[in-house]
Amino acid sequence: MLPREVISTGPLILRKPSQSDVEAITRTCDDPVTARFLFSLPSPYTRADAMEYLRAAETRWLDGGAEFTITENGRYVGAIGARPPDRWGVSEIGYLAAPWARGKGVVSTAARGLTDWLFDHGVQRAEISAEVENIASLRVAGKAGFREEGRRREARTLPDGRRADFVTFARLPRDSGEAAEPYLPFFDGGELGDGVVRLTPIGLDDLGDYHRMMLEPTVQAYGIGPASTYEEDERRCRLTGWWWLSGQRVELAIRDAATGAFAGHLQLTQVVPVLGQAMIGYSLLPEFRGRGLMSRAVRLLTDWAFAATPLHRIVAGTEVGNLPSQRVLQRAGFSRESIQREMLPKADGSRVDEVTWLRLRGS
Ligand SMILES: CC(C)(COP(=O)(O)OP(=O)(O)OC[C@H]1O[C@@H](n2cnc3c(N)ncnc32)[C@H](O)[C@@H]1OP(=O)(O)O)[C@@H](O)C(=O)NCCC(=O)NCCS
Repeated sequence: MLPREVISTGPLILRKPSQSDVEAITRTCDDPVTARFLFSLPSPYTRADAMEYLRAAETRWLDGGAEFTITENGRYVGAIGARPPDRWGVSEIGYLAAPWARGKGVVSTAARGLTDWLFDHGVQRAEISAEVENIASLRVAGKAGFREEGRRREARTLPDGRRADFVTFARLPRDSGEAAEPYLPFFDGGELGDGVVRLTPIGLDDLGDYHRMMLEPTVQAYGIGPASTYEEDERRCRLTGWWWLSGQRVELAIRDAATGAFAGHLQLTQVVPVLGQAMIGYSLLPEFRGRGLMSRAVRLLTDWAFAATPLHRIVAGTEVGNLPSQRVLQRAGFSRESIQREMLPKADGSRVDEVTWLRLRGS
């Protein structure tokens, strides 16, 4: 049994939920972000639901778990709880922040404090499971010292019937508990631009344009593998925030700065931190070609990578006959490095040579 204690962590007090929280709980749980990501809560959420929550919180304590209201200076700022540890000492924690307290590190601090307390009371492993599109929650897990362990595909059904992927994080008592600093930080201000092109994180809003571009014959001709379906591209667009945050890849829409129109796609992928190396790849819609947009986009992204990450080598591979792509790389400051013989499989079963290009930090 976990002891019914009050936890003090940083500026926060974690205490038992009480009647005085009902108003704040109702407002917090009736919020659209809460409803989106805690989709098993009633929606709309009423005072009666908050009263029911207080009863469920009491039951959770009786069952061996824990449920706290998070307060700062006496004010309700969220809630956090732990499921009863299983017979192997594994407990999953869950949390929410009041809309008026989000983005200030409240839940990250509470999750770290609660986890330390669980370890003090015999828990052997604490877990967090967050939907792959819940970037704030994925970030909270990293900041609370949890390590990512993997993506569980289609682990839950959402209210609209769609199956959603969840990411599992865990912290062990012997882990350092240090906050994870993303290897690939998000762009300051959300995007990069030079007045002619803008690079914005690609997401569901870009799905139609992205899919249309991937089906374009010249894009397909230089792609690897069969063309993706609309459904595959949709799944891909839902993963881009997590890919970025977990240091796997950056997926961007290239926009015409003058109109905001989607012009193409640029990615930083195959990130190998131990080597300080990553690869770029790109495609542009035909109507935006011939204006130097891609050279600008590639230069912007590589300049950012050298300024904001420890990457030392950015490489790119082009088919030996793809001269427009090779010109893009030359104009973006890349130099020709080597030939990879028969690297690229083609749709007809043949293979062609690839020219590898490189831009080094400081060049
Ligand atoms: C998840 C939740 C608890 C996070 O609360 P919070 O108070 O915003 O958390 P924190 O301030 O500690 O950290 C949030 C981090 O996510 C980042 N973030 C949030 N949304 C983001 C987005 N769309 N893109 C990039 N970063 C984002 C914030 O910038 C912050 O990171 P930083 O400190 O590095 O800047 C809150 O959004 C919430 O209550 N959501 C609804 C319930 C929920 O999802 N619960 C968890 C279920 S698993």
